[in-house]
Amino acid sequence: MHQQTPALYNDCAYTMISAEEISVLVDRIAAEVQATYQDSPRRLIMVVILKGSMPFAAELLKRLTLPVELEFMKVSSYGAGTKSSGEIKISLDLVRDDLQDIDLLLIEDIVDSGRTLSRLTDLLRNRNAHSVRTCTLLDKPSRREVDFTPDFCGTVVPDEFVVGFGLDYNEKYRNLPFIGVLKPEIYS
Ligand code: IMP
Ligand code: MG
Repeated sequence: MHQQTPALYNDCAYTMISAEEISVLVDRIAAEVQATYQDSPRRLIMVVILKGSMPFAAELLKRLTLPVELEFMKVSSYGAGTKSSGEIKISLDLVRDDLQDIDLLLIEDIVDSGRTLSRLTDLLRNRNAHSVRTCTLLDKPSRREVDFTPDFCGTVVPDEFVVGFGLDYNEKYRNLPFIGVLKPEIYS
């Protein structure tokens, strides 16, 4: 029987990172995270930055065997479209009074200008978290506007607007199981 390719898939010009490749990247990141926090006597909290990081965080979480807790922050830097507005808005904050005893690991889908993670790490360090590290599935260093390097990174990607595995364009495509590049006509 002929199976039709779903319309969402057809909006992609090509697959940049397949589901299988994503899985290999997450395996490696999980091993690095595990090695980093293995001997820490403190509580480790993964801070999932909503919404795009949700699938990545879920895959990472289930590969970790050390005790890890979960918190969420919701931050937006993008309006509708593919260009950053340059400022970030925190609409769900991490409110706790015990951060001095905690190792924080911020989970992001992609680092672009670097503003989001740079602002968030500053903020949480100012609130006296014992440590603040950052973990991103994808990094686009060619687009950096501030000096920022993630502690853990799946892979560097070229300057293309990507969707899938949590990443969206106008809230669509988050459910694609791979990372794809949208066809140019989708933007217009
Ligand atoms: P930054 O603050 O410029 O580093 O932006 C990071 C945020 O921009 C990410 O969490 C994404 O939400 C969004 N973003 C950056 N590049 C892309 C992309 O290629 N596709 C989808 N979202 C992106
Ligand atoms: Mg995001």
